[in-house]
Amino acid sequence: MKPILDVQELSTYFYTESGVVEALDGVSFDVRPGEPVGVVGESGCGKTVTGKSILRILDKNGSIVAGKIFYKGINLVDLPDLQMRKIRGKEISMIFQDPMTSLNPIFKVEDQMIEVIALHRKCKKDEARTLAIESLELVGIPEAEKRIIDYPHQFSGGMRQRILIARALALQPSLLIADEPTTALDVTIQAQVLEIIKEMQQRLGLAMMLITHNLGVVAEITKRVHIFYGGRVVESGATEDIFLDPRHPYTRALFDSIPSLEKDKTRLETIPGTVPRLINPPKGCRFHPRCKYATEVCSRIRPPEITFGKERRVACHHFEELDLHVEEDLFTKQATAKEEV
Ligand SMILES: Nc1ncnc2c1ncn2[C@@H]1O[C@H](COP(=O)(O)OP(=O)(O)OP(=O)(O)O)[C@@H](O)[C@H]1O
Ligand code: SF4
Ligand SMILES: [Mg+2]
Repeated sequence: MKPILDVQELSTYFYTESGVVEALDGVSFDVRPGEPVGVVGESGCGKTVTGKSILRILDKNGSIVAGKIFYKGINLVDLPDLQMRKIRGKEISMIFQDPMTSLNPIFKVEDQMIEVIALHRKCKKDEARTLAIESLELVGIPEAEKRIIDYPHQFSGGMRQRILIARALALQPSLLIADEPTTALDVTIQAQVLEIIKEMQQRLGLAMMLITHNLGVVAEITKRVHIFYGGRVVESGATEDIFLDPRHPYTRALFDSIPSLEKDKTRLETIPGTVPRLINPPKGCRFHPRCKYATEVCSRIRPPEITFGKERRVACHHFEELDLHVEEDLFTKQATAKEEV
C-alpha cells in the first residue's frame, strides 16, 4: 500500500551557541494509511524533532536542511505557509507529551475546542460545540456536556490528555502523531489513556505515528516500528518480526534493558555508555562508542540502510554476521504486560 507519510533523508539541525546540533541526519521512514506505527528510541534521539519537522513547528533556531516529507504525495518541506496551515490539525494532528502545556489554563475547554473545530471542519459554532461534546464523550469524559465549560485545572492529568485526544480527533485528521502521550501520567491512568488511543485508532482507521520509549506499548499497539538512534533510523520492520529477530545491536540492547527481564538478573543489562551528543556526533555508525560488536569500519563509515526480507531495513555493517536472536517470546510478553505500560 502507498504510504500516507513518506519521510525521505530528512535532516534537521539546530543552531546554538555551542555549535550545530545535528538532531536528524538523513532519517527515512513511512506510515501507511490506517496503520499504527511506532517510533522508538532513547531520550534525545530525535523523536519529537521528527514530529515537529513534519508539522513544521520547529523551535526558531531549528530548520530542515535536507530531505523530503511526502504527505499524501505532497512534499511538506516546501509547501507555502498558508497551505501548511491547512495541513496542521485538519490533516495531521499531534498530541504532545505534557497535556498542560497544550491547553491554555485561562480558557475554558469549550473555548479551546469549538473555534478550531469550526475552522477546520467548516461548520457553525453550535455544530462545532456538538461535535466537541461528542468527541469528549468518545474518549470517556463523563458528563461532557456539563464539563465542557470547565477550565483545564478542573480536570486530572489523565482527563486533560483525553481532552487533547478528543480535540485532535474532532478535526478528523488522516494522520495522528502521538508524542509520548502518557509519559506525564500516573501508571494506572497511562494504561487507560493508551487503551483509548488504541481504540480510537482502530475505530477511525487512523494512520498513527506513536512516539514512545516503552516497548510494551509498541508491542501492544503498533504493527510496524522504526527504531531511532542518535538522529538516525537504525532499524525498521514489522513489530513482531523485530521483537523476535532484532538485527541491529542497538535494538537488541533495548530489549535487554526491558524491565520485565528483571527476574533473570543475569540478563538484565543497561545499554553501556551514554546517548551521543548531537553536536559533533560520533563518525561512522553513531552507535559505535557503545556497541560491543563495533569494528574499525564502524567508526569510519556510516552503515548503509539495507533492505531485506519482508519489509525489514537495518543500518549496521555487520548485521549479517551477528546472531542477536531473542530466545524468549518478548513480543507476546510485552504485548500482554499491561501493568508495565
Ligand atoms: N531548540 C533546540 N535547540 C537545540 N537543540 C535542540 C532543540 N530542540 C531539540 N534539540 C536537540 O535535538 C535532539 C533531539 O531532540 P528530541 O526532542 O527530538 O528528542 P526525543 O527523542 O524526543 O527525546 P525524549 O524521549 O527525551 O522526548 C536532542 O539532542 C535535543 O537536545
Ligand atoms: S555498524 Fe558497527 S558499531 Fe554500528 S551497530 Fe553495527 S556493529 Fe555496532
Ligand atoms: Mg520527545
